[in-house]
Amino acid sequence: MAGKIAIVAEVNEKAIDRMYNEGRERGTPYLDIKTKTPEEAIRIAKEYAEKNEPVSIGVHCNATHLLKYMVDNNITPLVLTDQTSAHDMLYGYFPDNLTYEEAVELREKDPETYQKYSYNTVKRHVKLMLELQKRGSETFDYGNNIRTQAYKMGVENAYDFEGFVIKYIRGLFAVGKGPFRWVALSNDPQDIKTTDHYAKILFSDDQQLVNWITLADKYIPFEKGLPARVFWAGFWGRTAFGMLINKLIHDGKIKAPIIIGRDHLDGGSVASPFRETEGMKDGSDAISDYPVLNLMGNALSGATWVSLHGGGGVGVGYSIHAGQVILADGTQLAQEKLFRVLFWDPLSAVLRHDAAGYEKAQELVKQFKIPTENNDINSFDYLDFYNRTRQWVKEKTGIELFEPMKEYTMKLL
Ligand SMILES: NC(=O)c1ccc[n+]([C@@H]2O[C@H](COP(=O)([O-])OP(=O)(O)OC[C@H]3O[C@@H](n4cnc5c(N)ncnc54)[C@H](O)[C@@H]3O)[C@@H](O)[C@H]2O)c1
Repeated sequence: MAGKIAIVAEVNEKAIDRMYNEGRERGTPYLDIKTKTPEEAIRIAKEYAEKNEPVSIGVHCNATHLLKYMVDNNITPLVLTDQTSAHDMLYGYFPDNLTYEEAVELREKDPETYQKYSYNTVKRHVKLMLELQKRGSETFDYGNNIRTQAYKMGVENAYDFEGFVIKYIRGLFAVGKGPFRWVALSNDPQDIKTTDHYAKILFSDDQQLVNWITLADKYIPFEKGLPARVFWAGFWGRTAFGMLINKLIHDGKIKAPIIIGRDHLDGGSVASPFRETEGMKDGSDAISDYPVLNLMGNALSGATWVSLHGGGGVGVGYSIHAGQVILADGTQLAQEKLFRVLFWDPLSAVLRHDAAGYEKAQELVKQFKIPTENNDINSFDYLDFYNRTRQWVKEKTGIELFEPMKEYTMKLL
């Protein structure tokens, strides 16, 4: 999708087959080519590089075998990360001295020995990543806590490569940008296509978002469950789009209710010092007030369900997260709840980053005249904000949202 060449090591051949087969019948499989050895994978990658053509190549081997081959043969990828389930050394990560089948057997029979092997492998694994980083690869932790596992094994410079949030995402979180997911309860893919169509109109100024929707529609087949979509939208964008979806249901353009959620990964709902809140400007990485505030705000605003959980991506004990899901059923009451939840949920990310000293967040609260401890604004005009949202949707799509149900006198203190 990004127009580049990817080589992915995977120990489980069935997982490779799944990626190879999925989407093949519509001509857009996740994986283009299967290979058996790192040598074969690199040879094919070079052929495609010479032709200047993108390709995805799966190689049936342990990640350490691929990385070792690269180090020994002076091959330095432009970008390097790791997406093994390294957060779980027993049921997620696979050691490199056993075949997949042997490993599956050993973890049941002798979990202690299995974990010993896993930890020895992860130590080698992170050292190889550090070596490739030294040689010029743009290396980052994908959010699986692999650095911490290696650090526990004495790799003192394991944190020399940074996490993906600190490198690429923090600036998005600061302005409330994060995952926005929705699922069509009608089970009709056409309902998602309708939302895609309106997303492209509402967010026509956001070229990245429009590109994503177009690529997702082309390359990502709907899975076996209900049809769904995700994109990343920011403060206000999430509010307007959620309310618009609700009105599309009311107007009969979508057949049945839509459920809107996000991810445990977001800007204001997480305390995860090895992932989402790594390296915060004010050192507040492990402070966990915001997930609780996020949860309470969403519960009070009318979310359909909220949850508080731990361990997202990094393993239990390393993080705390708040989740929220809200139902759009086409009613005026649902619009009211969607407005409140989708106003508060991304705002909590902005407030968290405003408090931690991020300029982009401070500019955003000023722009929207939102009171925080860092400014002297002392009230927020909800009704005006509600009406501006309605106006934006009307101007872009021609669709008239419901009137607010009652006057907003509540003040944000
Ligand atoms: N950054 C994010 O937003 C984000 C999102 C999802 C998942 N994650 C994290 O990424 C990791 C992977 O998630 P997933 O849902 O893809 O998990 P998964 O378990 O479905 O897939 C991981 C794959 O890695 C393979 N594997 C394990 N050890 C290996 C090794 N040493 N060499 C080669 N292959 C190996 C497994 O066979 C498995 O197929 C998890 O730790 C998860 O928490 C991060």
